[in-house]
Amino acid sequence: MPAWFMRQAGRSLPEYRAIRGSGSILDLVKEPEAAAEITLQPVRRYGVDAAIIYSDIMVPVAAVGFGIEVTQGRGPVVAEPFTREADLARLRPLEAPSDVAFTLEAIKMAVAELESAGVPLIGFAGAPFTVASYLVEGGPSSTYVKTKTLMWDDPPLFGRLLAVLAQMALDFARAQVGAGAAAVQLFDSWTGALSPGEYERFVLPHTRSVMEGLADLGVPLIHFGVGASHLMKLMAGCGCDVLGVDWRMPLGNAKAVAASTPGGPQAVQGNLDPVYCIAPWKVLSDRALAVLREGGGIGHVFNLGHGVLPGTDPGMLSRLVELVHSTDPAVLAHG
Ligand code: CP3
Repeated sequence: MPAWFMRQAGRSLPEYRAIRGSGSILDLVKEPEAAAEITLQPVRRYGVDAAIIYSDIMVPVAAVGFGIEVTQGRGPVVAEPFTREADLARLRPLEAPSDVAFTLEAIKMAVAELESAGVPLIGFAGAPFTVASYLVEGGPSSTYVKTKTLMWDDPPLFGRLLAVLAQMALDFARAQVGAGAAAVQLFDSWTGALSPGEYERFVLPHTRSVMEGLADLGVPLIHFGVGASHLMKLMAGCGCDVLGVDWRMPLGNAKAVAASTPGGPQAVQGNLDPVYCIAPWKVLSDRALAVLREGGGIGHVFNLGHGVLPGTDPGMLSRLVELVHSTDPAVLAHG
């Protein structure tokens, strides 16, 4: 059973903190050697079956000069949020490779090291809605008041914003595959804030255009959202190959949704609640085995239901990978 962890690089690793410094992550990702090294750290430490490039969903919008900072402990912040038509001019098209040459260089360096071990590298991009939410809110939000207001107040403008961000995600992801990424994950972390009707009307067409634009590359396309159980049927129809699920939806249900979607995903990814990685081993291992049982072994990529939490002991994640690798879900199911 393959396993990797969302946010496997980063704060929980002492070797990451040794490189991290106190500057902006948006500066650190521009140093290809450091970014490649940070990408490799969790592979060495945990023995996970995939690396994910050390970058950020805000890299393309920052690269075209929208004015983004990523603050430690808070997340992306925007000094001048997107409020009106004229702000579209601040989102010129992404010029790949030049705008994101640093990430592409980091991918090449990481892939050169990973190849001998046969470990694939996952590239990623932020889905249009999640990136838009930061641009419109000006920072992280729990209610998305401004985003939802713009969506209903001016649907054509909201649609143009998402179309621009979809093109950016597509260009960024295509360039990453060109540089050696063997799969792409599209993170729509905050889309679960929408109702199914809103998602279908305002978001799905744009997510679908990203997936359709990547289809000819022939790499697995993973789509993931948090708190999005109520949207799973719609998300399964976006053209992805793998459906990322958080812990709120049992993997068996996600598999059923995938199977009942014509041309839908062949696999599910997830979905251990990352909170259990901080719990005692007995609790963690019991929950992990339950996830493996639910996943059923075939068409399941083991992962967490969201990113590794900052307080996680790296030793627990190593043990978790060992457990996943040494467990045969078929035996679990009958045992
Ligand atoms: O394994 C990895 O960490 C891969 C690289 C990666 C980062 N960000 C680096 C990063 C990935 C896949 C992301 C995706 C990302 N970035 C998402 C989608 C995934 C998710 O968790 O839902 C989102 C919403 C962002 C925006 C963002 N960037 C947030 C919310 C934060 C956290 C702010 C904080 O400190 O709590 C960031 C900063 C960030 N991006 C860190 C890392 C490793 C935090 C550590 C640091 O600042 O060094």
